[in-house]
Amino acid sequence: MSLDTVIAKPHDRLRELLADDLGQVNALIQSRMASEHAPRIPEVTAHLVEAGGKRIRPMLTLACARLCGYVGDDHVKLAATVEFIHTATLLHDDVVDESARRRGRPTANLLWDNKSSVLVGDYLFARAFQMMVEPGNLQVLDILSNAAATIAEGEVLQLTVATNIETSEATYLQVVRGKTAALFEAACKIGGVISERDDTVVRALATYGDGLGVAFQMADDLLDWGGTSGVIGKNIGDDFRERKLTLPVIRAIAAASDDERAFWARTIGKGQQKDGDLERAMGLLQVHGTLESTRVEAIAHVATAKAALADLPEHPIRGMLSDLADYVVERIN
Ligand code: IPE
Ligand code: IPE
Ligand code: MG
Ligand code: MG
Repeated sequence: MSLDTVIAKPHDRLRELLADDLGQVNALIQSRMASEHAPRIPEVTAHLVEAGGKRIRPMLTLACARLCGYVGDDHVKLAATVEFIHTATLLHDDVVDESARRRGRPTANLLWDNKSSVLVGDYLFARAFQMMVEPGNLQVLDILSNAAATIAEGEVLQLTVATNIETSEATYLQVVRGKTAALFEAACKIGGVISERDDTVVRALATYGDGLGVAFQMADDLLDWGGTSGVIGKNIGDDFRERKLTLPVIRAIAAASDDERAFWARTIGKGQQKDGDLERAMGLLQVHGTLESTRVEAIAHVATAKAALADLPEHPIRGMLSDLADYVVERIN
């Protein structure tokens, strides 16, 4: 069974509705991801692209454009652009995180090497920029180039606060908004912008994308503790091994006894981890109820996202976007 058939549900309805558009997006991705001049590029991009991925971000662009009554075909190019930016960040992210699995396959950094992942990631970013210029819409360029910068800032901020057990919830949120929500937000907004919708609509799309993106990353952080690698297509426990402070851990540290604090200081602060530590960490998250409280927090962001939909034009897609927001958190169960 493919990754998509396991995880997708409300996507399926959106996917069905957008099937033609998505087919064009996939064809465009295929044609633009290859390079005739450096064979390593198509090898690496095909490995990652053929593994699938949920295509949530390009679906958001297509869905928001359709919902706003867009006629034309720039939305296809922009959806592919968004997926290229996402794919580039995944290649880089797996190097930074030293991850071994992505989309149910060994990562490119494992199969080839870090150098190939970094450089092919750069290539995809460059291809994304070439493609985003083509519709000739300055506001779209502004949104997407800002998002690309914000993602990098989020990843760098995370890098510099990782292993610091004093990291606050506010900093965590800043990281999440940067590395993940910025692209969700941009993906949604450009759908409204190319449809020449007014500020109210574009703002509502931004709020929806931001809430969805924050909830999505919170859910992803929960899955890292509790999912099965078969379902998420990545290894679980990676965040603990990488000494990454996600919300469940930040909250467990805030509630820690002296002894527990010493445990976090050793395993995350100093990176001295031994057999059984992952299990103990998991136990502490359970004792302090922080997996559950993170889920509640994610649901709050879902609610904010859904509330913003009220400012959008009436359209069947509106209900699907609402279901998609719910699903982002439900996929944890
Ligand atoms: C992975 O995103 C990166 C995060 C923001 C957690 P997705 O879970 O959307 O990755 P694919 O594209 O479906 O593989
Ligand atoms: C991914 O962040 C966000 C970006 C790719 C910018 P994570 O490192 O938390 O996500 P996974 O777990 O590798 O997908
Ligand atoms: Mg990662
Ligand atoms: Mg990362």
